[in-house]
Amino acid sequence: MSSHKPIRKAVFPVAGLGTRFLPATKAIPKELLPVVDRPLIQYAVDEAREVGIEQMIFVTGRGKTAIVEHFDIAYELEDTMRERGKDLSVLDPTRATPGDIITVRQQVPLGLGHAIWCARAIVGDEPFAILLPDELMVAAKGGGTGCMTQMVDAYREVGGNLVSVLEVPHEEVSSYGVIAPGASRGALTEVTGLVEKPAVADAPSNKIVSGRYILQPDVMRVLETQGKGAGGEIQLTDAMAQMIGRQPFHAVTFAGRRFDCGSKTGFVEATLALALERADMGAEVRAMAERLLRD
Ligand code: G1P
Repeated sequence: MSSHKPIRKAVFPVAGLGTRFLPATKAIPKELLPVVDRPLIQYAVDEAREVGIEQMIFVTGRGKTAIVEHFDIAYELEDTMRERGKDLSVLDPTRATPGDIITVRQQVPLGLGHAIWCARAIVGDEPFAILLPDELMVAAKGGGTGCMTQMVDAYREVGGNLVSVLEVPHEEVSSYGVIAPGASRGALTEVTGLVEKPAVADAPSNKIVSGRYILQPDVMRVLETQGKGAGGEIQLTDAMAQMIGRQPFHAVTFAGRRFDCGSKTGFVEATLALALERADMGAEVRAMAERLLRD
């Protein structure tokens, strides 16, 4: 048994406008765009559920209510499907235990740090997880655990605060939060510094924060007074940086695959990769892709 408080809550910041995907996201939240046949948000929620996280806290905004509908019971749909003898198990991942989907609204888009701070009353005095649904993290080919499972495993050992990291080519670091790495042991690396969207020349490494976090509730107190940072936004990275030295802070290198579904090409890549490995369509998609590449 670990002596560290269990992680029971996950925060999903989903208030973003999704302007990069317009016009697709004019009336549909970006998080509901499907990768094959599951909306993006479903993958993040499943990843949290895999490790037994119970409460899903969505930080939403105007026009995002369909995300909550997705995890509700659709009575007419289910009734009609039942009458027609259709298989309802396809809806299983969308079922939430009553009371386990909670939403708070971020009224003004002031940044990721501000979005997380909006969940402070629900998070309360417990360590919690954060999953950015844009970052689609998938278990390694041929099996393995999800990213949040690997992080919780590490957390049980070291406690404190953790971020998931991965290496990107140096010239790409300016789009991300970057860690200054200390000592490493297996997949765990000590974090000695954190900087949000540094200039390439100033980046302390090429290890970027890839959208999964386990944080102590104290970060909410830091966010309370956190000023604006990179891009004029209240940055989670800046608040986390202040926790270094006060509490343990580690990075976990995910043994698995990551797709950047915040970009259109990343989204296409994810769709293709996941379709190719599906038992029900993989062979057909492969033949299709080969034909398209030939023509
Ligand atoms: C956010 C975080 C950044 C992190 C990134 C991962 O940036 O602020 O630290 O590396 O997500 O996708 P955003 O993509 O919202 O600009």
